[in-house]
Amino acid sequence: MSGTAAPGPGIELATPDPADAPPRAPHGSPEQPLGIVIDCDPGHDDAVAILLALARPDLRVLGISTVAGNAVLESTTDTALRVLALVGRQDVEVAAGAAHPLHGPLRTAPHVHGESGIEGSPLPAPASTAIAEFAPHAMARWIRGATGPVVLVPTGPLTNVALLLDEHPDLRERIAHICLMGGSLTEGNITPAAEFNIWADPEAAAIVFGSGIPLTMIGLDVTHRSIVWEAERRALLDEGGPVARTVAGLLAYFQGFHERTYGWAGTPIHDAVAVAHLAAPGLVRTAAVNVEIETEGLWTRGRTVADLRRVTGRAANAHVGLDIDRERFVRILVDAIRSYD
Ligand code: BDR
Ligand code: CA
Repeated sequence: MSGTAAPGPGIELATPDPADAPPRAPHGSPEQPLGIVIDCDPGHDDAVAILLALARPDLRVLGISTVAGNAVLESTTDTALRVLALVGRQDVEVAAGAAHPLHGPLRTAPHVHGESGIEGSPLPAPASTAIAEFAPHAMARWIRGATGPVVLVPTGPLTNVALLLDEHPDLRERIAHICLMGGSLTEGNITPAAEFNIWADPEAAAIVFGSGIPLTMIGLDVTHRSIVWEAERRALLDEGGPVARTVAGLLAYFQGFHERTYGWAGTPIHDAVAVAHLAAPGLVRTAAVNVEIETEGLWTRGRTVADLRRVTGRAANAHVGLDIDRERFVRILVDAIRSYD
């Protein structure tokens, strides 16, 4: 059965953030755009996240790094280059990174994104090539070269980010924030316990969540409420210009998985929420809590174990998303996409 009722209420957490909570995610302005590095595995929603970031005058994309996840590395890198070609932004550097998680085999998601990682709309051929530098090294260079604060926006498995932190420990001070899509406070989507990006490389996620760098976790609790309903897509994108129509085709395909799995006549755009959170203060409601990554559990590997009631006494290491203003999110997204045509 398909419906357009928003799934469940947002999570309520009445307790205020503790005094020692890490800083919240910074925001940019058109006068002082926030420098971001998008580390991604495109992927339908990664592609939309890239398009959103590039359209925003308050964000400046310093570079795009790719990781294996939704599809093999060759495909995710190729897709990132195609997305840039779609909007004529081949000036943005793309660096390919890890082809496998830190431990264990690569497991992709063709049941969600199709074999190429991005079925549903033909994308133009790449108009540029990936740079020769390994992504974690390119990320380090982009961060070092930035004049203002830099935020990492990982929207895939956290392998590249873990390698970056491991190989360039001095950069921890230079990274103002990590605003990632991943994890869940409630149910998972690849197992009952785990969300795909964290499950795909839990050891990397444990390094990132334990890094001490201020972090925001945009998990399924928020992204499953960031749905673009089919009726909205038809009204706002299907009849638009070439970029809008390409995105509409991607969303229609991505809806297939969510319709089959959850019965939704629409699709969440998970990864774009992590970008939108940096562009729109107040869009996502968050709370500061401790989050640990389960790397052992037979049934729970990749679980983000969040101490919502602060029963462990562990210091808060993350702001976790609890709820989102969905209609505002859709407006932000549609305005960005339509600005290209
Ligand atoms: C995440 O997994 C991928 O399929 C999506 O691109 C998103 O990053 C959602 O669990
Ligand atoms: Ca992704």
